[in-house]
Amino acid sequence: MLPTTRHEVDLLRRARPGMAAVLLGGHLARRLPGPPLRKVPGLGWVTADPVVARTVLGDHRSFTIVGEGGVGHLWAQILGDWVLDLFDGPGHHDLRSRSRELFTEGSSAELVDGAWSGPLADARTALREGATVDVARLARVLVGRMMISLLGVPAPVDRAPGTEAWPTDDDALAVFETGERLATIALGSAGSTHLSPGQVVAAREIVAELTRGVPAGWRDAPGDTLLGRCRELGLGLEETTGLACLLMVAGTETSASAMARTTALLVDTGEQHRLLDLMRADAEHEAAGQVRGPGEPDAVENAVREGLRVTSPASVIGRGVAADVEVAGRRLAEGERIMMLVWSANIGAGPFRADRPYVRESRQLWFGAGRHLCLGAALARAEIGALLRTLWGDGESLRIVSRSAQREVLIPSYRTLVVARA
Ligand code: HEM
Repeated sequence: MLPTTRHEVDLLRRARPGMAAVLLGGHLARRLPGPPLRKVPGLGWVTADPVVARTVLGDHRSFTIVGEGGVGHLWAQILGDWVLDLFDGPGHHDLRSRSRELFTEGSSAELVDGAWSGPLADARTALREGATVDVARLARVLVGRMMISLLGVPAPVDRAPGTEAWPTDDDALAVFETGERLATIALGSAGSTHLSPGQVVAAREIVAELTRGVPAGWRDAPGDTLLGRCRELGLGLEETTGLACLLMVAGTETSASAMARTTALLVDTGEQHRLLDLMRADAEHEAAGQVRGPGEPDAVENAVREGLRVTSPASVIGRGVAADVEVAGRRLAEGERIMMLVWSANIGAGPFRADRPYVRESRQLWFGAGRHLCLGAALARAEIGALLRTLWGDGESLRIVSRSAQREVLIPSYRTLVVARA
């Protein structure tokens, strides 16, 4: 039996058939007796066990993100060796301490309100009027807009005077697609994170294009923008540019993927009806003046967490082995690599349920763990939550009119997901 919906499995297969087989195999292997950590020819060490994965992600002495097998290794080839310190050395610690307050629950809600209120209101109106909304495209537009506002991407110089205010939906889509091209360069890195000279040149051009606005923003932008805040937090231009690159690659496709896939899961599993009931109950409690306990999620926040668990858009996390180490009874040698099958580890708790309580075993492994735990987690949650509130906030259920999958991409995703009121 499939561990999730057939549409979800289809997305994994269309994205990368080989990786889909590894992820489904990881899920099956967890249910069979045998070691939780295995060596697979061509891949290195592989685990689908959430506890082993968290142990590895928390052991910064024995595992590295910058060694062969980690994303830092990719970035060092593109941006230069200074990245190594920023990703894993004392520079990383400094960066994380300074940037801790960049994406809090409060600032994330403000960012979403600021950059998204227009397009979300349009989508809600369209649904009310009986029209369709392509949620996959909408998610790309929204994430593109977020990147433009976070990174201060300026309007292109050759823009005709008198054209619509920057950015239009098409501008936002163009920025999203440029970020996507950068991520695609990492596509071939499942076997090795060494880039060819051609890939390095292509990646550098994209980075230059996307970070065009960073120097000016870092110098002049007000303190309530991300770039201005980076300056005020004492981050230099080089660190700010490095962080901008990270945000672009880490926070675009992942968020867009989670938004469309959580929408589809809610409809496909019928769980949208449970969500609507729970949202109604929340509204009644609120009207009666009842206050939720601290940290207790509302109906939408719970569905967001469950969507992240079941989709796990960053389906695999890689690390290099920095020093000989024993994990789960196996000896890993310096220079080897390890893949954590995050999707398989998270899906083990069962199929999508809008009201599933917090799963202790996986915690929030979809955002990683340890010192590289997703910096944008609060923003990602706010983004998905804002979309779900737009789609279901009127208390009406939705149907899926049509859909198609992205092919040959790093992050499994919908190319189109057209919905309408049921
Ligand atoms: C659903 C959406 C998202 C998912 C599933 C996700 C997942 C992850 C994961 C698994 C990691 C750890 C990678 C590793 O350890 O190798 C990570 C790191 C990171 N993420 Fe996210 N992410 C999402 C959205 C975002 C957003 C919206 C942003 C910011 C705009 C962001 C910024 C970052 C950054 C900067 C890092 C690197 C942190 C470090 O190395 O210290 N992410 N993310």
